[in-house]
Amino acid sequence: MTAALVTMTQITKKFPGVTANDRVDFQALPGEIHALLGENGAGKSTLMNILTGLYRPDGGEIHIRGRRVRLNSPREAMEAGVGMVHQHFRLVHPFSVAENVILGSRREGFWLRRKAAEQKIAGLSRSYGLEVDPRAKVWQLSVGEQQRVEIIKMLYRGADILILDEPTAVLTPQEVKDLFATLRRMAEGGKAVIFITHKLQEVMEYADRITVLRGGRTVATVKKGETGIRELARLMVGRDLAADQARTPVNPGPPILRLEGVSAVNDKGLPALVEVTLSVREGEILGIAGVAGNGQRELAEVVTGLRPTTAGKVFIGDADITNRSPRRMIEAGVGHIPEDRMGTGLVPNLGAVDNTMLKAYRDRSACPGWLLNQKDLRERTRQLVGGFEVKTAGLDTPVKLMSGGNLQRLLLAREISADPRLIVAVYPIRGLDVGATEVVHRLLLTQREKGKGVLLISEDLEEIFKLADRVAVLYEGRVMGVLPVEATGVEEVGLMMAGAKRIEVAAG
Ligand SMILES: Nc1ncnc2c1ncn2[C@@H]1O[C@H](COP(=O)(O)OP(=O)(O)O)[C@@H](O)[C@H]1O
Ligand SMILES: [Mg+2]
Repeated sequence: MTAALVTMTQITKKFPGVTANDRVDFQALPGEIHALLGENGAGKSTLMNILTGLYRPDGGEIHIRGRRVRLNSPREAMEAGVGMVHQHFRLVHPFSVAENVILGSRREGFWLRRKAAEQKIAGLSRSYGLEVDPRAKVWQLSVGEQQRVEIIKMLYRGADILILDEPTAVLTPQEVKDLFATLRRMAEGGKAVIFITHKLQEVMEYADRITVLRGGRTVATVKKGETGIRELARLMVGRDLAADQARTPVNPGPPILRLEGVSAVNDKGLPALVEVTLSVREGEILGIAGVAGNGQRELAEVVTGLRPTTAGKVFIGDADITNRSPRRMIEAGVGHIPEDRMGTGLVPNLGAVDNTMLKAYRDRSACPGWLLNQKDLRERTRQLVGGFEVKTAGLDTPVKLMSGGNLQRLLLAREISADPRLIVAVYPIRGLDVGATEVVHRLLLTQREKGKGVLLISEDLEEIFKLADRVAVLYEGRVMGVLPVEATGVEEVGLMMAGAKRIEVAAG
C-alpha cells in the first residue's frame, strides 16, 4: 500500500455547545482524489481547517508523510505542504493575479519578485490547464477564474496536499469538468487532492475514495468502485432516502405567469434582464438555470413586484400586473420563497406567530381588526408549524435562532397556506442539508400536483432535472432557450449557461 500523505487520527474539535469533530479518522494518499462527503454541519470544513492550521484540535494527531506534526498556524501548514481553497475566496480584488499569488508566500521583496512570479504562474497554468492571465486584476475575473487563481496560489507555494471546500458550487457544468481535469493532473503528479462536497453525483463521477462524515464522526471510507449513490446517501444521512420522488405526470393547464419581452436594470442601472419572454403553466414547474448573477435575482423581483420593468409586460392569468406593487402581486396570487430568507423573507427578531402575520394581515377574513384575532393567529401558526414540521423552541422565539432548514419550512408554510397560484422559489435549497432539501422538494412537487405554477430558480442542475418540467436558461439577462427537461441534458444546458449555445423557441 502507498504510504499516506496525510493521516488524521481521532481528531476532536469542540466549539461552544457543539462537537464539530468527534474522534475523526481521515487519511489521504498521494495520487488520489478524495471526497470528503457529508451534510451541512457534518464537520467537513472544521476538519480541513484543522489540517490547514486555522483551528487547533482539542484531541488527536496529525501525521504528514509519516511524521507527527503540530500545525499552529496556516503558515506552518503551508510549510508542511498543505494548501486550501476556501469556500469564500480570499483574494485582494484591486491586485493582479500575480500579486495575489505572491502575497504572503514569503517575506522577501514583493515587487521585485513579481516578474519572476508572472513567469512561474504562466508555467503552472500551462502544465495544469489553469487558464488565467497573470497580469489581470482580480476584479476583472469571473468566479471560475478566481478559483483558478486560488489553485495556482496553492501550487505556487509548493502544496502537495490540496484541499478544496465545496469547489463546484459556483461553477458551470463545463467549468466543473475543467476543474476536475486539472485536479486529476495534480493527483497524477503524486499530489493528494481532497474536495469537500455534499453532492453525490459529483462524488461518483470524480472521486477515487470517499470519506463520509455525519454529525462530526467518520462514518466510513469507501472506494468509488465499491459503492453507489444509494449507499453513500444512506451513509451521509443515516437512513434510506425516500424513493426518488419521480414527478407524477400532470397535464399542465393554461399559463399562470407570462413574461413578454421584459427588460429590467439591476441596482447599478445596468441591463439585468433583456427582452425575457417565458411562461409558467398551471401544474408546471419551470426551472430557471444559470450561473448566479445572470439576471435570476432581478427576474424573481420583477415577478414579485419588487423591481420595476423598463420594457415588456407581465401577466398573472389574464391580468396585466406589469409594475404593480408587491402587495398587488400577492393579491394576484404570487407566493415568494426569496433568496434571502432572513430579511426579505422573515423578520429575524420576531417569532413564528408574528412572522406568519406579516402576510396574513392582508387577509381580511382572517383579520378584521387583527388585534382581536391574536388567538386565531396563534392557532393558525401552531397548525402551520405542526403541519410543516417546523422545529422551534416556541411560537414566539425569534426566528433568527432557527436552523436554515426550519426557516425554509416556516417560509414555505406561510406562503403555501396563503394558497397562491404561482410560487416563485429562489434557490430554495441553498444551505440546506439533504433531509431538509427532501422536504422542500416534496412541498414544491405537491404544489405542482395541485395545479399551481412554480418558477424555480436554482443553481443546481440536479435539482432542476429532478423537479422541473421545462428548463429556461438565463445568460447575461437573456433567455438562451426554454426546453422540456426530457428533451435536453446537463451538457446542453451547460453550454447555454456559458452563453455558448442559444436555442430559438416559440413563446408559450
Ligand atoms: N467557528 C465556529 N464556531 C462555532 N461553531 C462552529 C464554528 N465552525 C463550525 N461550527 C459548528 O461546527 C459544526 C460543523 O461545522 P462545519 O465543519 O462547518 O460543517 P460542514 O463543513 O460539514 O458543513 C456545525 O454545527 C457548525 O455550526
Ligand atoms: Mg463547510
